[in-house]
Amino acid sequence: MQIYLDTANLSEIIKYSEYGFIDGVTTNPALAAKEGVSPNKIVEHLQQITNSVSGLVSIEVYATTYNEMIAEGKKYSTIAPNIVIKLPTTEDGLRACKTLTDNNIKTNMTLVFSPTQALMAAKMGATLVSPFVGRVEDAQFDGLSLIAEIREIFDNFQFKTKILSASFRSIKQISIVAQLGSDIATISPTLLSKLYKHPFTDKGLEDFLKTASQVS
Ligand code: G3P
Repeated sequence: MQIYLDTANLSEIIKYSEYGFIDGVTTNPALAAKEGVSPNKIVEHLQQITNSVSGLVSIEVYATTYNEMIAEGKKYSTIAPNIVIKLPTTEDGLRACKTLTDNNIKTNMTLVFSPTQALMAAKMGATLVSPFVGRVEDAQFDGLSLIAEIREIFDNFQFKTKILSASFRSIKQISIVAQLGSDIATISPTLLSKLYKHPFTDKGLEDFLKTASQVS
């Protein structure tokens, strides 16, 4: 399973990209705002992100209507070859996905909460679909079954669209979506570090070195 970093924080992106830990980046208007990036500064910020990552970088449109989404999507698509235009899974968003796909522009259909939304996104030729595991679980529904159902549908019809599971609350959810066959998980920097840190590893290492130091 590929791992993307879900952030607009440039220093975290550069760090994890240099480590080789990440395969791509996802951002959205809320994550950009968290880094103090306003809509009129997004292109410049995106240029810096795409210069730091070789994998796909998803940028979400601010527009909510079809014509505006197409204009915004086309503008962002010229920034770098690894740009993916993220669109909300609405009627206008799905139409925009079809048009951008027909123009050879990569798309990521976001805010997916049902298997049929993912099916529609795949039918429109989306490169990626982003089901929000954590937000489904927050609402007391089964966000992990959502991934299993989308996986089955995509496999049934050999859709090329990749499942990019998003909105995680725990590392357990991340390991389960990996078992379920999610192609990609996009993860906050905080959760990413928890994927590999373990207190028993630190304690075990400390014990090994202590024992080794007792031999002169
Ligand atoms: O990639 C989607 C993500 O940023 C949404 O996460 O934690 O706001 O549900 P969250």
